[in-house]
Amino acid sequence: MAKISVISGNTSRGLARRIANKLDATFVPAQIIKFPDGESKITLGKIPKKSIILVVQSTSPPVDTNLLQLLSMISQARKFSSKIYTIIPYMGYARQDREFLGGEIITISVIAKMLESAGAKKIIVVDIHSKIALKHFKVKIENISAIPKLVNYFKKMKIRNPLVVSPDAGGIIRAKEFARQFNSDLISLKKQRNRKTGKVKIQSPKMNLKNRDLILVDDMISSGGSIVKATQFLKKQGAGRIFVACTHAILIDNAEKKIRKAGVKQIISTNTIHGKTAKVDVSDIIANSIK
Ligand code: R5P
Repeated sequence: MAKISVISGNTSRGLARRIANKLDATFVPAQIIKFPDGESKITLGKIPKKSIILVVQSTSPPVDTNLLQLLSMISQARKFSSKIYTIIPYMGYARQDREFLGGEIITISVIAKMLESAGAKKIIVVDIHSKIALKHFKVKIENISAIPKLVNYFKKMKIRNPLVVSPDAGGIIRAKEFARQFNSDLISLKKQRNRKTGKVKIQSPKMNLKNRDLILVDDMISSGGSIVKATQFLKKQGAGRIFVACTHAILIDNAEKKIRKAGVKQIISTNTIHGKTAKVDVSDIIANSIK
């Protein structure tokens, strides 16, 4: 196999270094200076000629800044190689995949075009919010599941009489897969989001959850609103300990505190986004997807 180089911006530096180690690749971290007006000045180190290049950057907050840095790095990488993999462990804007209310712009389709025109050839993402988002891409895009890695982590914990819970109907496929691999029962809550205010409500019937440890499985936590509402509802049904398994823990502002206050014992996420809940490393599944 040809020599591999891994380029990374600041957001995914730790994960990118691990991917580089796994592939025995040259690690090329970008030097990024932020100007007072918010512009980024990006400088790349030496990229070995004729190598396969992996550009790694999650588009987590600050989303637009990280996206522009990613586009710039892809564009630069194209000057050195035609064999480029763009790895976006957390793909921002994937929730904007359809017109929910009249006049809304489907921004993920704009991003797909921007990535393509910057030179992205093959894109790899982890647990993208919805499969519909993938349809907006003309370049090859592969969605890797972090569910087996999250399940392995939870298998090492002492979970009593477990029940896997999807906080909404949209996340049921992921939660079902978690429950199957974890060998446990599954339920899904009925969540309703006000498309104007973004506020969520749980509208599920009463149920008996006494003596059960629950694992809420979701693709991402942003403001924490969905998990807080789900936890408050589940606690009212007599649930025992509540854990959260999610791929992308953005945890805006004091989201983690709000979630803990609602009654969640522990949040376990992956290192698609760096942070203290990021206990599960996905570098191996990303490295394995480079063929
Ligand atoms: C929604 O469909 C997603 O899967 C997440 O549940 C949601 O986007 C998380 O956002 P927040 O933490 O702001 O409720």
